[in-house]
Amino acid sequence: MKRKVTKAIFPVAGLGTRFLPATKSIPKEILTLVDRPLIQYAIDEARAAGIKEFIFVTSRGKSALEDYFDDAPELETSLRKKGKTQLLEELKATNMDSGAIAYVRQNRPMGLGHAVWCARRLVGNESFAVILTDDVIAAEKPCLQQMMEAHAETGGNIVAAMEVPHDKTSSYGVLDVSEDMGSLVRVKGMVEKPAPDVAPSNLAVIGRYILTPKVMQNLNKKKEGAGGEIQLTDAIAEEIRNDNPVYGFRFRGQRYDCGSKAGFLQATVAFGLARPDLRDEFSDFLGDVVAMRPAAE
Ligand code: UTP
Repeated sequence: MKRKVTKAIFPVAGLGTRFLPATKSIPKEILTLVDRPLIQYAIDEARAAGIKEFIFVTSRGKSALEDYFDDAPELETSLRKKGKTQLLEELKATNMDSGAIAYVRQNRPMGLGHAVWCARRLVGNESFAVILTDDVIAAEKPCLQQMMEAHAETGGNIVAAMEVPHDKTSSYGVLDVSEDMGSLVRVKGMVEKPAPDVAPSNLAVIGRYILTPKVMQNLNKKKEGAGGEIQLTDAIAEEIRNDNPVYGFRFRGQRYDCGSKAGFLQATVAFGLARPDLRDEFSDFLGDVVAMRPAAE
């Protein structure tokens, strides 16, 4: 029987320059979508997929992120006294078991591949998941859970994938597909940030991965790739060259790029409208804004 994947790496050591000046003092992962920090969405998705060990690759200036996962006994007592039971339940749902989270440091931002490699000792010789908190995915069944189900059938390496506009391939890792089986595709090559004229397809890698220990071993070589960074894509592509299976998985759901300002705003609107307590007031407001625009022009 295949061993279940129970460890996930959350690389959160990037500089988050696209959100300066906010990220001068707050980690990007603490930025809030409606009333939850981005990291909470990622943790909830990982839990739903059966993850038990949460490994954060952090860096200088991320202490707010570490504090976020502590219990808040004073806050809980105060809410209890005031009879705010629903808020109390919501707060408790964010508590993590002692020892479930581990932090390792990436001394310098040398790329996503390098960040993942920093977690090698905690991962050991097991398959593991990687979640990029920037990619928030709204889905009936959480994206990583969908991928775990596919992985239980196929084994090997699986990366989340979605079709992107052809002129946007240079923002993504892009898949070269050898066999298209519907939601799963077999991959024969991967290219990091190709220009549209050389991109092998428009099927792009999104921030969810299930990877074998061999990918970690490939990262040991610390070869620099696109942009002088150590790329996770390159370490996965090496597995293809070694004839080990790599699949792309077309997940069901809507992905928001919360690492960019436009994507973050779109996610805020979508998640705001999805909330029963906000929907009516918020959609009235958005209707007014849309109606005002032609008048303003
Ligand atoms: P990004 O490419 O979005 O970089 O990294 P960034 O630094 O977070 O943000 P910008 O581009 O400067 O605005 C994708 C993910 O990989 C992590 C980031 O924290 C983010 O979750 N990462 C990237 C690391 O942990 N270490 C790195 O060296 C690079």
